[in-house]
Amino acid sequence: MSIFYHQSTGTFHLTNGEISYLMKVLPNGALGQLYFGQAIRDRESFDHLLELRSRPMTAVVFPEDRCFSLEHCKQEYPAYGSTDFRHPAVELRQPNGSRITDFVYHSHSITPGKPALPGLPATYCESDAEAETLTICLRDALLDVYLFLSYTLFAGQPAIARSARLENRGGEALHLTAAMSLSLDLPDSGYEFIHFSGAWSRERHMKVRRLEQGIQSVESTRGHSSHNHNPFIMLRRPGADEERGEVMGFSLIYSGNFLAQAEVDNWDTTRVTIGINPFGFDWKLAPGETFQTPEAVAVYSSAGMGAMSRTFHRLYRTRLARGYWRDRPRPILLNNWEATYFDFTEDKLVSIAEAARKDGVELFVLDDGWFGARTNENAGLGDWTANPDRLPGGITRLAERVEQLGMKFGLWFEPEMVNRDSDLYRAHPDWIIQTPGRRTSLGRNQYVLDFSRREVVDHIYGMMAKILSEAKVSYIKWDMNRSITEAFSASLPPDRQGEMLHRYILGVYDLYERLNTAFPHVLFESCASGGGRFDPGLLYYAPQGWASDDSDAVERLKIQYGTSFCYPISSIGAHVSAVPNHQLGRVTPLATRGNVACFGAFGYELDLNRLTEAEREEVRRQIAFVKAYRQVLQFGDFYRLLSPFAGGFTAWMAVSPDKKTALVGWYKTLNEVNGPYHRIRLQGLDPALRYTVDGGAEHYGDELMQVGLVTSDAAAGEMTADRYTCDFDSRIFVLQA
Ligand code: DGJ
Repeated sequence: MSIFYHQSTGTFHLTNGEISYLMKVLPNGALGQLYFGQAIRDRESFDHLLELRSRPMTAVVFPEDRCFSLEHCKQEYPAYGSTDFRHPAVELRQPNGSRITDFVYHSHSITPGKPALPGLPATYCESDAEAETLTICLRDALLDVYLFLSYTLFAGQPAIARSARLENRGGEALHLTAAMSLSLDLPDSGYEFIHFSGAWSRERHMKVRRLEQGIQSVESTRGHSSHNHNPFIMLRRPGADEERGEVMGFSLIYSGNFLAQAEVDNWDTTRVTIGINPFGFDWKLAPGETFQTPEAVAVYSSAGMGAMSRTFHRLYRTRLARGYWRDRPRPILLNNWEATYFDFTEDKLVSIAEAARKDGVELFVLDDGWFGARTNENAGLGDWTANPDRLPGGITRLAERVEQLGMKFGLWFEPEMVNRDSDLYRAHPDWIIQTPGRRTSLGRNQYVLDFSRREVVDHIYGMMAKILSEAKVSYIKWDMNRSITEAFSASLPPDRQGEMLHRYILGVYDLYERLNTAFPHVLFESCASGGGRFDPGLLYYAPQGWASDDSDAVERLKIQYGTSFCYPISSIGAHVSAVPNHQLGRVTPLATRGNVACFGAFGYELDLNRLTEAEREEVRRQIAFVKAYRQVLQFGDFYRLLSPFAGGFTAWMAVSPDKKTALVGWYKTLNEVNGPYHRIRLQGLDPALRYTVDGGAEHYGDELMQVGLVTSDAAAGEMTADRYTCDFDSRIFVLQA
């Protein structure tokens, strides 16, 4: 792994045998982008890649050079308005109203390892040999503002982590209105733009469109990364698929308002930017102050989307997620939400936990409704003490009773919220996010606490830490059930109101960090009305997240398939729930519900007491299966085989690192009558190993990958005397070398 600097040409070359990333100091001192892609040999000069030519109607930087215009240069961290008219990476409003800046190369440093980003989640390394970081310092001389662009290259991984930091060493206050984490100019526009969008209960559906001249973007303006769009996009060459072709993925390690954009200019070059959404963002940079952007990660793959995903999975699972639970198989949990909603007593909960324990569940999670006056959605949020009418012995006794059953105990919180009907709101009505003189909108009958204020975060920390210190709580589900409206902070002066939503997220990160530090063995699962904040930022604090409130197995195929493009399988909270399904009334086989959920952080979301003995037997089989294979299911290499967005069949598989065990999930939506024969071509196996399929037939890996696994045989779903096939049928094939 090397980061080269060629002084004679001002060229930086970051390369690790997997990828190359090339930049060059341009004639005006700005930083130009030359190449991002598969690794190439180093040389002193790549100047020929600049490709400058004189064009009509072009503004030029120097009168004597008609070829040099920033509009026609591929740049690294561009600004608007000084011969470049595209959307900028950085914009600073100055006291005289100007937004023109001129950041030119000042110095650089190359250091082993990777520095942390204070207050922000970011990838990290465990030894200096794992990564190398290039920091390029640029300076705007008129303003005396320094811009530090940071690039970390990870050994053996086709991934680069980027962020930017601005330091105002001048004498005047400035306003930062755009500070993207990554900006990358690509020489052409021959890509498809792929993003993962949706809404509550149908998060991260894959959307594909061809790049065209103009701007295509996804964003959040809701104060959280949102169900609607995810801070992750891909650029894919037409024809590229899971196994072949060029793909780039861009992911933002951030949980607030983001923008991910591809701007294609009229000469068909593409500018990719990702970072905090400039919409509504206005950060005052007073003299002596600095601003650090969140981190973005770019991954390059010449072997299709599958390889790109596996790079993200490895990096985010092992070098973004942290702590005790990072590498540990996740406990099989049962959450009482869909089993009881708000209707429970201590004894009812214990009876649900008892049944769960009998069948092999390891962790019982008490969801919403245990605190304050919370017997429905309208009261209690903010009062994080147990409701004595419902839990006379408090959380302490309930947790003890659950532990006595031989299980761990987990608890739900929604730390950022408050109901009007709560002691917290009555004591501190001024702690909510509200704009003076304006109506304050409600969402799920609750307000959002102003987490940009330290005293608010301190108070919530105090209440949560008390419970965690007193009771045996091993897991926390951290929920967040509404978007932020009327954003305004009573603690900020008028010229800093544009900082509020970013400061809010910093407050969320601060609370997570404090809880992680004080209670290092607690497993955190993030949640926001399902997948409303399923992003890499939270993976740093909570190694798993509740992927969606939609627990229907068929809908989950799309949600989990879409989520898998960027996020590791161990991070995808997935549960078996009751039928008819509570979100859409569909009835699917219990086996299929289990077969979908087991490719994730597996659990149940129902009262097992309500199942028949035959169903309980099936649950016991599922739990035994997950316990036997969860290391491979959650931490193995994941391959997508058939897309639920493309037809009536979905398939995916997980393979152990030694390639000796593989689990293939195969799912049929609607049944076929007199249908065609089916085979799935597997991936990731060792071609030379001979695998048994479900302990029976034997096939070499090459046959299974080239010819395929026959799924239209009797065992795999055709109607036979001992196995009927139906809508929503599924199988898991266990391959053992
Ligand atoms: C929304 C979550 O996504 C659900 O799982 C559940 O925890 C409810 N909130 C509780 O209010």
